[in-house]
Amino acid sequence: MNNSIKKSISILCISMVVIVYIATILMSKGVLDNENIFSLSNIIFLVVIVVIAYVLSFIVSRIITFPLKKIEKGMRTVADGKVPDTKHLKEYTNLSELNDIIDAYTDMMRLIKKNNFDLNSQQSKTEIILEHMADGVVAFSISKQVVHMNKAAMRLLNISSSDDSFEKISQKLKIDLDFDKIMYLPNYTTFEVKTNVEENVLNIVFAPFFSDKLTPMGVIMMIRNITENVKLDNMRKEFVANVSHELKTPLTSIKGYSETMMNGDLTYQEVIKFSKVINQEANRMGRLVSDLLQLSRFDYKKVNWKKMLFPINDLVLKVCEKMKFEAEEKNHTLECICADKLPSVYADKDAVEQVIMNILSNSIKYTPDGGNIRVYVGSVNESIFIKVIDNGIGIPEQDLNRIFERFYRVDKTRSRKMGGTGLGLSIVKEIIEGMDGTIDIKSQVNEGTEVVITLPTKMTVK
Ligand SMILES: Nc1ncnc2c1ncn2[C@@H]1O[C@H](COP(=O)(O)OP(=O)(O)OP(=O)(O)O)[C@@H](O)[C@H]1O
Ligand SMILES: [Mg+2]
Repeated sequence: MNNSIKKSISILCISMVVIVYIATILMSKGVLDNENIFSLSNIIFLVVIVVIAYVLSFIVSRIITFPLKKIEKGMRTVADGKVPDTKHLKEYTNLSELNDIIDAYTDMMRLIKKNNFDLNSQQSKTEIILEHMADGVVAFSISKQVVHMNKAAMRLLNISSSDDSFEKISQKLKIDLDFDKIMYLPNYTTFEVKTNVEENVLNIVFAPFFSDKLTPMGVIMMIRNITENVKLDNMRKEFVANVSHELKTPLTSIKGYSETMMNGDLTYQEVIKFSKVINQEANRMGRLVSDLLQLSRFDYKKVNWKKMLFPINDLVLKVCEKMKFEAEEKNHTLECICADKLPSVYADKDAVEQVIMNILSNSIKYTPDGGNIRVYVGSVNESIFIKVIDNGIGIPEQDLNRIFERFYRVDKTRSRKMGGTGLGLSIVKEIIEGMDGTIDIKSQVNEGTEVVITLPTKMTVK
């Protein structure tokens, strides 16, 4: 028993002894009547004693019981999930041992408060992360009800909060899964499915979660949109297939012609003819490889642009002159119309030459004999535009947004016959982007195509 309580009890005992002593003296002096217990003096003495006892017990109870009651009330408040105020507890007592209990209680409450704060901030942090993450997360309780679902999950799975159970969600996704099997998966194992929701490909991982290491509490479903990865993977496969195919075709003819030549018995004209074919095919392979190397340099950002200011008219006229022979071979008329006093273009001159050559060569290739090709150069909004218009076969609308893809050709066989590999416009696009310019293609089947590129001038350079 602590000292102060002992002290209080001793005070009570001493008070009792003193009262008994006073009562005995008062009896011997005849103030109290020992013959008639209910005499007036006895009753008055008893009332005084009762009042003193009441005051003493009130003092003792205020010192000991009141703070204890407060502590008990505080504990109950904690049980209700709140943290009580401990500020004024010490005002009720000055017993040192009770003060120790109050101090310990105050420390405990401070710790609970801190833990509560940590827990709340951890919880809100987790909620914010869950709400803002790109992956979807759905948690199911043991009774297969949704206990948590973030926005990404609703968006990716195209579901709403009314889809609140495992059955409803798996029905919507058209996946047939056994919830209990997932729940009782061995520790640290997951179950994975791939499914399509509208245009997206989703990878869904299911895993059980536990209260402790042994008791399963439910299932977590993590949803990741892998559409881009699947697309990239398909593009990579398609690219490898395209490269192999483009290399195989010229290789086969080189092999065939060279074997025929090796067998002998050929006239001089035949040897010349076959050698020409071999040379053409080798050139084609060389072009393909250099185009691929150029694209790979773009991919690895290994291109050092030599940007400078130069007059665009001179360059466009030079390219038109270079392409004149090719156009004449197909009886095309090639016109080049340049505005006067144009500001200089700020770009890599060789790269811009390659761009104009590519676009012009497409117009020449994809316009039937006797066509009309016009090149306009002018300025708009402090930029230079170069417009190449032909009256050729045109590009169907559905192909227009794909022609910048590597190896994409509207008509593979026709384009291949013309020596095309389908890399020209993808290189053009990369260069134009590198020059901070723009490219736009409009086309009508059997009417013609209009390609407009814009390039920055000195004034528009950032
Ligand atoms: N002016 C045009 N008229 C009609 N079709 C065009 C025109 N320009 C491009 N195309 C279409 O766009 C496709 C892609 O053009 P791109 O220049 O990338 O490849 P290519 O000309 O086939 O081959 P490469 O340029 O590598 O020799 C072409 O195959 C063709 O179908
Ligand atoms: Mg081309």
